[in-house]
Amino acid sequence: MPVICVQGLRRLNGEIWIQGSKNAVLPMMAASLLCRGTVTIANVPLIEDVFCMLEILRTLGCRCDLREHVLTVDARDAVGRPVPEEACRSMRSSIMLLGPLLGRFGAAQIWYPGGCSIGSRPIDLHLGALRSLGAQIVVEGEQIRAQASGLHGARLRFPYPSVGATENAVMAAVASEGTTRISGAAREPEIEALCDFLRTLGAGISGIGSGTLTVTGGSLLHGGSFTVPGDRIVAGTYLGAALTAGGELLLRGAPEGQMGAALAAASRMGAEIAVEPCSIRIKMTGRPRPVSLTTEPYPGFPTDLQSVMLAAASVAEGDSFIRETVFEERFSTAKELRKLGAHIIINGGTAAVEGRWPLCGGSVSGRDLRGGAALAVAGLAAEGTTFVDGYAHIRRGYEDICGDLAGAGAEICLEDIDRRKEHGAL
Ligand code: EPZ
Repeated sequence: MPVICVQGLRRLNGEIWIQGSKNAVLPMMAASLLCRGTVTIANVPLIEDVFCMLEILRTLGCRCDLREHVLTVDARDAVGRPVPEEACRSMRSSIMLLGPLLGRFGAAQIWYPGGCSIGSRPIDLHLGALRSLGAQIVVEGEQIRAQASGLHGARLRFPYPSVGATENAVMAAVASEGTTRISGAAREPEIEALCDFLRTLGAGISGIGSGTLTVTGGSLLHGGSFTVPGDRIVAGTYLGAALTAGGELLLRGAPEGQMGAALAAASRMGAEIAVEPCSIRIKMTGRPRPVSLTTEPYPGFPTDLQSVMLAAASVAEGDSFIRETVFEERFSTAKELRKLGAHIIINGGTAAVEGRWPLCGGSVSGRDLRGGAALAVAGLAAEGTTFVDGYAHIRRGYEDICGDLAGAGAEICLEDIDRRKEHGAL
């Protein structure tokens, strides 16, 4: 696997086209199993998690074609086979198949999902919701076997607004006889996108965008077309890059309406931000100002941008405080940032960051998708060369992080691992 190689202390200047949203497209792909017609999804990001879901859909007998960011899925001849263990383990979103498989075939056999190591990530809320809709679920070791002789509508109440459990519940409810009311639902924009997608295919869903969703279900969906919105987390990563490295970026295709908390944090840190429909311009002169923020479910500050803010805070002019409330292990990136000279002290769920400029180059390892991207961003503010390992995680969610940042003035590329020896980094 190649490593990311960054020569720091170059200011950014240019445009980046923001790819389609990973966390929006993955449940849509799973939901395609509920359709008897062909589904066409445009603006699909070409990332590993999408390729993995594509493989699973093919294993289940769907005819899929992905060309130039446009995906078609024809699930007419799909069959209710067990989902292969390896595919389930390679990404969290494999759990999204549980609701659609039950809805379509009345049975599902999958494995505990894998994905980023950012916390314990239980699936009790998913299983509880599906049981309330009439599924019998047996968990044996790592295997999950579910069946239902006809799902039925129910009243569901989530004690915590889990994104994935809300999505699974919505997809199963679409195939359930009668009406399902989901309260305590997560309100992330990706859920709104999934509901809009399902409505395009004939589902009856109201309350979209709120914490209470009402789904009228009972029949399979028809085909249709949908365009995936831009990825708010990728756009937020590049916002973080501009804060960290300085300069001016135009983020085209950024879903500015979904990024209120990230934009507010960036302007508190000293960025000048101009928002236009479907694009964001950010200008950053000087070092970032320190920031205090807490990650929360939407519309709060997203946990997926915590690591990149940790990188930006590491070069701020003063002390920042970042509190993580969603995933308990998301601060593992701090250990790697310290190797680049960052001063971060973790106390429980809060990171206290004493800003320093510049950081210093070194070899670091990304252990999760967003943490890896944050380390590449930190390298932009480091003197000398920074090597970031863990590209296998990063490419699960970023189509071309190096190409994007290099096109905007950064000196960053993917290098063969042996080149590190030449640089004396191994
Ligand atoms: C989704 O994960 C995203 N993944 C994550 O994106 C994102 O960080 C997260 O939502 C929060 O915004 C996808 O959409 C594919 P949750 P998900 O269920 O659905 C607890 C990225 O980098 N919980 O909302 O797994 C859980 O432990 C990522 O793109 C339960 O207790 O998140 C966590 O503390 C990684 N029981 C909290 O809820 C459950 O059954 C939020 O998890 C489910 C969750």
